[in-house]
Amino acid sequence: MASLFVSLGRSLVKLLIALPVIIGLSISSPAMAAQWDAETLTVPASPGGQQVTFSEADIKAGSKLFKGNCGTCHNAGITKTNQNVGLDPETLALATPARDNVDALVAFMKDPSSFDGEYSIADTHPSTSSSDIFVQMRNLNDDELSQIAGYILTAPKVMGPNQWGGGKIYF
Ligand code: HEC
Repeated sequence: MASLFVSLGRSLVKLLIALPVIIGLSISSPAMAAQWDAETLTVPASPGGQQVTFSEADIKAGSKLFKGNCGTCHNAGITKTNQNVGLDPETLALATPARDNVDALVAFMKDPSSFDGEYSIADTHPSTSSSDIFVQMRNLNDDELSQIAGYILTAPKVMGPNQWGGGKIYF
């Protein structure tokens, strides 16, 4: 029994020595710096599997545009009024046509359709084709639409899947 306590005590001492080292390592780990590496900035460009690598400046611009134009309903990648249709990659991939790539997201922002692709929702969802109703969409050019798409697709990688889109599937 006594020897059990001695060895427990030794383990505790070892842990106390190891703890600052572990904490130190995790603080200085390259994980934080790596959040804007090429892998993170590279996302599917089209349904055909081509990839596109954005610049950090593009994603920052996309983030601003997203917050200004989409954030009221899609803050942190969720959809406030329809939790089933979030902006997480899994849900985007299940839409018809799949929206987990830049081309499809840009097409959606120009003429959005229902999740099953059956009908246009331009009358109720902001888009450049309904900018008479959603006037803020009037000022967005193609480059800016791509930057917004780039932000939507990199955000789950930068923020982590649990911080973007709620991290769960509702249906
Ligand atoms: C007024 C609230 C509102 C605003 C503002 C808004 N959306 Fe949406 N968005 C919705 C709703 C509601 C849906 C679900 C529509 C449906 O399928 O019926 C949706 C769906 C989407 C989808 C489809 C998601 C999927 O999984 O298929 C994308 C992509 C999207 N929005 C992008 C945007 C972008 C980009 C902007 C900004 C330019 C934006 N939205 C602004 C409410 C909004």
